[in-house]
Parts: sequence; C-alpha cells; structure tokens
Amino acid sequence: MTTLSQDHTAENLEYDPLNPAVQQEPYPYYKVLRAKEPVKWLPSLQAFGVATYDEVDALLKDGITFSSAQFWPELLGEYDPVPEELPMISMDPPNHVKLRKLANKAFVPSQVNKLKDRSYQIANELIDDIIAKHGNEGEFDWAWEFTALYPVTVIAEVLGVPTDRRSEFKVWVDLVLSAANRAVYGPERLAKIAEAKVSIRDYFEDLYDDRAANLGDDLISTLIQTEVDGVQMTRNQVLSMAVLLLIGGVETTTNLLGTVLVELKRHPDVYQRVRADHSLIAPLIEEVLRYNPSVQIIFRHTTRDTELGGVSIPKGSAVMPILASANRDESKFENPEVFDIDRKIEVPLMSFGQGPHYCMGNYLSRMEARSALEVAFSRFAELDVISDDIHWIDSYFARGPHTLPVRFKTA
Ligand code: HEM
Repeated sequence: MTTLSQDHTAENLEYDPLNPAVQQEPYPYYKVLRAKEPVKWLPSLQAFGVATYDEVDALLKDGITFSSAQFWPELLGEYDPVPEELPMISMDPPNHVKLRKLANKAFVPSQVNKLKDRSYQIANELIDDIIAKHGNEGEFDWAWEFTALYPVTVIAEVLGVPTDRRSEFKVWVDLVLSAANRAVYGPERLAKIAEAKVSIRDYFEDLYDDRAANLGDDLISTLIQTEVDGVQMTRNQVLSMAVLLLIGGVETTTNLLGTVLVELKRHPDVYQRVRADHSLIAPLIEEVLRYNPSVQIIFRHTTRDTELGGVSIPKGSAVMPILASANRDESKFENPEVFDIDRKIEVPLMSFGQGPHYCMGNYLSRMEARSALEVAFSRFAELDVISDDIHWIDSYFARGPHTLPVRFKTA
C-alpha cells in the first residue's frame, strides 16, 4: 500500500504534472495540494489545478463559467485526429445536449445489458487465445494480451468496428493521449505521436466508408443516417464522435482492468477474499475507481472572472479538476489513503466526472469490468502480477499500467 506516511519528504513535494516522477506516483503530491493549496497555479501547464472534492464538484456542475470547449484542443493540441470538429466532450450547451441525447441511446442500461452475454463471450475467447499461445500455465502480459483487446472488442460491437487491427489501436491511442505531455517531448517522440494521429484518422476514414456502404444497426451507421435539427451529421462529425467513443471508451476501461490487478497484487488479503467470493468484484471495482482511477484529471476553461476555494481565477484561464485527488478528499472519505473494498461510499465518486458531461459510458465500463474479472477469476486458478515495480503510462491525465506481466495457471 502506498501511504503518505511512507513518504516522509512529501511535505516538500512540488506538484508538477509533467514531472515523470509525479506521473508514476501522483498521490502524495495530491495530498499536499489538498492540505496546502487546493487551487494552485501550475506553471508548466499554465493552468489552475483543483484538488479538493467540493471545488471539483462545484466547477464541474457550472458548465457556463467552466467551459469544456478547450478540453480536447488542450489535451491533444495539434495531435487531434479530427481537428475539424470538436467532439461532444468539448462542447457547451446547447449543441452538447443535442448530441449527447443522440449518442446516449446506445449507452442506457437496457442497451448495455444486451451486451452482457457478448462481453462474457469476448473475455472467454481472449482467454482461449492466451491458453492456445502460452499453454495451461506460464506468463503473459495482462495489459497487452487481455485488457488492451477486451474493451475495444466490446465497443466494436456497439460501433460496428472491424476488430482485426485492435492491438495496433492501443499503441495509437497511448501515443495520441501522450500528446498531453507534448511540451516536454523531443522531436522523435512527437513524430511518433503524429504518425499515430494519422493512423487513427485513416482507420476511421476507412470505417466510415465501410459502414456507409454496408449500413447496419451499429452506432456508426446510425450516426451516418441521423439528423440533428434537420441536418444530417457531417462525415467529420461522425468521425469525431467515433474517435471520442474509442479513445474515451477503450483506454479508460483497459486501464481500469490493468489497475485492478495491480491493486490486487498490492493487497493480497483483498485478492484472497475476492477469489473466494465473486460478489466482491463489484465493490472491488468501485474501490479501484476511487483509489486509482483511469482518468486522473480533466480540463475546463473560464468564460468569465471567477473565484474558487478563495482563489481568483481570471476569465480565459485553463482549469484542471484533479478527479483522482477529489476521490481522496479527507473531508468526504474516511481514511482515504487506505484501499478498502468494504468502505461505505457516501458521496459520488469523481472518477466519471460530474454535471452535464458525466461519463456516458459509466454503466458500460462497470459492466465490462465485472464480466471480464468474473471470467478471468473462473478460468485462471492463478493470475498474479509478477513484479511490484509498475511502469504506469506516460500521462498525468490517463492512468494504467503500461505493461503488466502476470503468472497464470488455468483452473
Ligand atoms: C473506467 C472507465 C471510464 C472512465 C474512468 C471514464 C471517465 C470519464 C470522465 C471523467 C468523463 C467526464 C469528462 C468531462 O466532464 O469533461 C467522461 C466522459 C465521457 N465518457 Fe467516459 N469513462 C470511462 C469509460 C467510458 C466508456 C466505456 C465510454 C463509451 C464507450 C465512455 C464515453 C464517454 C463519453 C462519450 C463522455 C463525454 C460525455 C459528454 O461530453 O457528455 N467512457 N468519461
């Protein structure tokens, strides 16, 4: 367990999201922020970081003062695969509401529940492949051979995406998301990100053509045919939505499933209990979402002079609510630095955001994660992360293990 008490230098920690050491273990820095400077100017990102629950909650619920319009441009900069069109996550009212209503049809619980059996099947097929490749015991990479492939295959069902290039997809998405660090990258790394951007764009251009020629009942086909205010969605609007759903829906759930195994490695007592009683999988997922969430930080931009936590924020400022820090706010969660699957959660987690942009895929990702873990724990008698030394992906915004070698034995 990582606790601040183990880190006696924490009081002196200066939070800089671009510092690789911070990205590997940000939580001691968040704790200092909450105690000392919950709303803090971050020079490296030219943004205000917001670390406490009430302030994060208030700003996310005020979409007028704290606009989402700069979210995507700030995150990806010139590495946005569809720069011509802002995705829904980066829209303000009234356009946001219209588009959300439309896309949300695919994500309501009744629709998601239709995908449940298919999720079990996909998880079983991936495990069949792993056993075919590695035998009944040995080692494999949970991050690349399972979690990178599973959510992309589930969302492929929703979108009508062919799955043959799904493993390349994680490489592209990791690279494009790492554009958030572009300020500190050299030309070689930036060139790789630019290549990934082009690959994603090409992938979706092909997908659009394929769907337009073979309309089905998948979401892309629906979007191609849909009209918003009597006007059909443009090609770029559809591409932008597809990129958002894939980036938003794949990487996040992939990372969640990776982090679950990391936390089980760090908390063997919990692992034993969950193994013996699969009904504990749901509270396990909730605690991982709270304790070490896939989305650490999101982005807003002020449309007027305002004030937050006693700090004046001028109009036109970038503001970064630190969701992962709000989830450990001492005033909302008892012993927040302790990983506890039995905790009573009395306020909503910030892991999926709050307010008008609250994650559209929250129900889907929870269902996916539950199904995958139920299958994995049934098929594998042993499934243990090998090393304590975890290399987290290079991002201050997205969090999950970059690779995760595990030792396994079939049941
Ligand atoms: C563990 C999994 C996930 C996490 C932690 C997560 C997190 C988030 C967060 C924090 C937001 C709010 C962004 C904001 O307020 O600016 C968000 C929005 C969104 N998420 Fe997720 N997400 C997850 C899974 C998914 C999945 C599976 C999908 C869909 C396939 C999805 C689709 C979306 C969409 C479309 C939005 C934008 C909603 C809007 O702008 O109204 N997410 N997500």
